[in-house]
Amino acid sequence: MSLTPASPAPRLIVLGDLLDFPKDPGFAPPPEAEQAGAVRWRPDHRIRIEAGRILAVEPASTPLPADWAQVPVHDHRGQLILPGFIDTHVHCPQLDVIASFGTELLDWLNTYTFPAERRYVDPAVSQAGAERFLNALWAHGTTSAVVFPTVHKVSAEALFERASRARMRLVTGKVLMDRHAPDGLRDDVTQAEHDCVDLIQRWHGRDRQAFAVTVRFAPTSTPEQLQMAGALCRDHAGVYMQTHVAENRDEVKWVAELFPDARSYLDVYDRDGLIGPRAVLAHGIWLNDEDRAVMRAHGAQIAHSPSSNLFLGSGLFDWRGAEADGVRVSLASDVGGGTSLSMLRNMGDAYKIQALQGVRLTAWKALHTATAGAAAHLGLADELGLIEPGRMADLCAWSWAEGDVGRHRDQIAQQAASLDAGRLHERAFAWMTLADERNLRETLIAGGSVFRAPALAPSLLASA
Ligand code: GUN
Ligand code: ZN
Repeated sequence: MSLTPASPAPRLIVLGDLLDFPKDPGFAPPPEAEQAGAVRWRPDHRIRIEAGRILAVEPASTPLPADWAQVPVHDHRGQLILPGFIDTHVHCPQLDVIASFGTELLDWLNTYTFPAERRYVDPAVSQAGAERFLNALWAHGTTSAVVFPTVHKVSAEALFERASRARMRLVTGKVLMDRHAPDGLRDDVTQAEHDCVDLIQRWHGRDRQAFAVTVRFAPTSTPEQLQMAGALCRDHAGVYMQTHVAENRDEVKWVAELFPDARSYLDVYDRDGLIGPRAVLAHGIWLNDEDRAVMRAHGAQIAHSPSSNLFLGSGLFDWRGAEADGVRVSLASDVGGGTSLSMLRNMGDAYKIQALQGVRLTAWKALHTATAGAAAHLGLADELGLIEPGRMADLCAWSWAEGDVGRHRDQIAQQAASLDAGRLHERAFAWMTLADERNLRETLIAGGSVFRAPALAPSLLASA
């Protein structure tokens, strides 16, 4: 009897200039962050990947082990390789309403967003929407996300199903909303609980999928539904919780009217046990000092959504103040309130929001937040956010510059960097500010290529 050998684990080599962020640089100026070991720059390196994970990271000049000689090589020499970005708050169905004119949050929801979300009751719409949305994330350099679908169970199901086929780390759960929403977008406590438990049992912990108890925001849930959501968090260890909080001043006033007994907007969630280390709360612009103390005590995070806050005119988030108070902060696109799925564009907007408050956001801080920072806040530091053996091979290759203006600016930054090795930040900051999805060459998730820039597709593969 002959034994059939197990098929070898798929292998892959990636070549390029590696940039990742092992420590939080905070709001320190670039040289201090670099000296503190927050920035790791490894030009001309090789990443060896096996079975979806990074096996080795070494200078490209290191001799290749003999049994790797025939392994496919993705040759991105001269280009940046970063860990894939983590978008901690984004709405799948809102690609239909991104860039809608002229309203603040509550009008925007009623005028554009709710009508678009109603269509997701149709399984075909949910499936096509999940496919379009996840492909769009990958084409913008995002490899992990915390996602709002719609109130319909099928919309969460479609996201889980598509993400699990790509082996993508995804956090989602059907949206809970049982009041103050139009027909076709309301659930009820009993059915919603049943749907959530079923989704948890079938998806949470399977194929990099994680369930989030997803309260849309306080106004669209009855007190009974919020209690049920808190019970789900208590009864199912390891699930996440996602919602919106203190985004817009009219919204904050409305919550105070709806919940007169609550100490604050955040307290509406806290008193039902929704705030914990796995809670991701979008915005938090108008939280008070006591709220921040509650966030810190629980290790909950704010998903700061810069392009959305500017576009909807919601306000300027005090990132440095929040962190000084011990609150964890991650970065998010919040599409369709946000105007781009590109985390780089959102970093550019975050820089401007801080500049208006007299604070300078470095590229190191922004890039750390969207990679290793978010991974740590989500409790996924062992899996995501760094280019290191053992981590999943969720990686993106980026060109330094596209277009005449970008290329010109990059050349100037390179000349400065060649004079002074400490000037890498100048180049990286210009890249962060000017680059977007047009700079993306390839996206790998668990070592599988999920996006390739069209012009590169034929020439990408070389043999070792
Ligand atoms: N608050 C409640 N729902 C939403 C939403 O869909 N987008 C944003 N930005 N805020 C919300
Ligand atoms: Zn949102």
